[in-house]
Amino acid sequence: MPNSLVAIYPGSFDPPTNGHLDLIARAANLVNHLIVAVLQNTQKNALFTTAERAEMLKEITAHLPNVEIDSFDGLLVDYAARRNANAILRGIRNVSDYEIETQMAILNRRMRAQTETLFLPASAEHSFLSSRMVKEIITLGGDASGFVPEPVMRRLQAKFTTVKR
Ligand code: PNS
Repeated sequence: MPNSLVAIYPGSFDPPTNGHLDLIARAANLVNHLIVAVLQNTQKNALFTTAERAEMLKEITAHLPNVEIDSFDGLLVDYAARRNANAILRGIRNVSDYEIETQMAILNRRMRAQTETLFLPASAEHSFLSSRMVKEIITLGGDASGFVPEPVMRRLQAKFTTVKR
């Protein structure tokens, strides 16, 4: 029986949303150490670099002492092994998330039985939210300030001011 719960919360976080932050804060109350791990940039249409995403996550979790921000590439289970993590944390918003997340959880467990995936249901007020939709709203000139933490909103605004020039 492990006496310390080290969990990894992996994701693209392009950009981090209020939903991500809510999950991080709730999980930080449950586990000894939470590693928020940004998947290193593989998508061509990514808005922020891995470093920018990690910086934003550091800023918005600065008040949570047991939360660490890191990045990884390759298989998540290999990263979990390197970090001696005994859990992977994922948020579930709806049935579609449940289907894909269960598939990943089972495959990850087949590859590394020592790491269990834990699911936390998204809070109701964030259950509609995704980074993809935030990007779409911003790209089309909408107001995303209710969906992302303030430091992320500033970065989004800066990015789009730069892009429009
Ligand atoms: O925020 P996302 O994009 O939903 O996060 C997806 C993520 C990073 C959790 C997933 O793509 C992942 O774990 N990628 C690492 C590669 C890997 O281990 N793939 C096998 C999963 S069964």
